[in-house]
Amino acid sequence: MEDSCVLRLLVVTSLLSGSTHQASLKMRPDTSQLFDGQSVSLRCEEDGSSDGWTVTRNTTTRTRTQCGPDWGEPAGSSCNISYIDPLDSGVYWCESTEGAASTSINITVSGGAVILQSPVLPVMEGDDVTLTCTTETSNLSAGFYKDGSLIRTEPTGHMTIRHVSRSDEGLYKCHTREHGESPPSWITVTGKPTSAAPPTTAAPPTTAAPPPDSTPLQLVFRLVLHLVVFCPYCISTVIMVSLYRHRSTGNDLPVSMEMAPPTQAEQGLADEYDDVMAAVTTEHHL
Ligand SMILES: *[C@@H]1O[C@H](CO)[C@@H](O)[C@H](O)[C@H]1NC(C)=O
Ligand SMILES: *[C@@H]1O[C@H](CO)[C@@H](O)[C@H](O)[C@H]1NC(C)=O
Ligand SMILES: *[C@@H]1O[C@H](CO)[C@@H](O)[C@H](O)[C@H]1NC(C)=O
Repeated sequence: MEDSCVLRLLVVTSLLSGSTHQASLKMRPDTSQLFDGQSVSLRCEEDGSSDGWTVTRNTTTRTRTQCGPDWGEPAGSSCNISYIDPLDSGVYWCESTEGAASTSINITVSGGAVILQSPVLPVMEGDDVTLTCTTETSNLSAGFYKDGSLIRTEPTGHMTIRHVSRSDEGLYKCHTREHGESPPSWITVTGKPTSAAPPTTAAPPTTAAPPPDSTPLQLVFRLVLHLVVFCPYCISTVIMVSLYRHRSTGNDLPVSMEMAPPTQAEQGLADEYDDVMAAVTTEHHL
């Protein structure tokens, strides 16, 4: 009886997690600052397939325009810009026909001589990140600034930040003596994804982050979804604990065997709940 119950939970869970399609926007070259006239390739990727997503953008002049007649050359879920212009600076994301959105990226096209090459996507806590200060032809000896303060000067034009943490998040730019300074770019640092799903779940852990323009309703839906995806382990633990307790009333199982595992499992449950709440809090910050 408990088997079929757990099985049903797993089926529901995998159906639900199957419906949390999440695309991400990949960009080539992978840098959030570009020179006037560079060519850029943007692509929506959704684990394996990528159908039904369109690259969409907000610029200072127009909002929510899709790759197509006014800008870019669309091809399926890709979009190329063969000659990017400072007016193409803005926020870019993938939007599905159902209105779902990927996380967005900021693109800055410089009209000047210097750019700061920094990662387009958020950097994972603990990873190394390298920033490069460059002209169209070569890297430059430069001072690197975060939130307006000089961090250090690098003769090679490269600055690597090792094991980034949340405190490294901020607005970066570089300054060169010969060619002036780059535009600023925001670097986002995200927490490590929550630990892998326990062996009782067949569903993969969801790493889906909501788009910044989620409505409160979508956020609530995601919260419920996350709880349901993370919870089969918790729920099956609760079921098993209650089954053990039931059995102990009519049965003579030794008490020590009943009590030890549930305590650990409940600790795990509390931890996972914390993880979920942390994820939800992070999502609200985005
Ligand atoms: C976009 O650019 C990429 C890389 O330069 C190229 O492989 C691809 O064929 C281009 N697609 C279109 C639709 O122009
Ligand atoms: C994009 O730029 C805006 C304005 O500078 C900033 O508030 C936002 O956090 C940036 N988003 C990302 C994903 O970097
Ligand atoms: C794009 O602009 C629209 C309209 O101003 C706004 O509602 C939306 O949040 C913006 N999207 C992003 C990703 O910044």
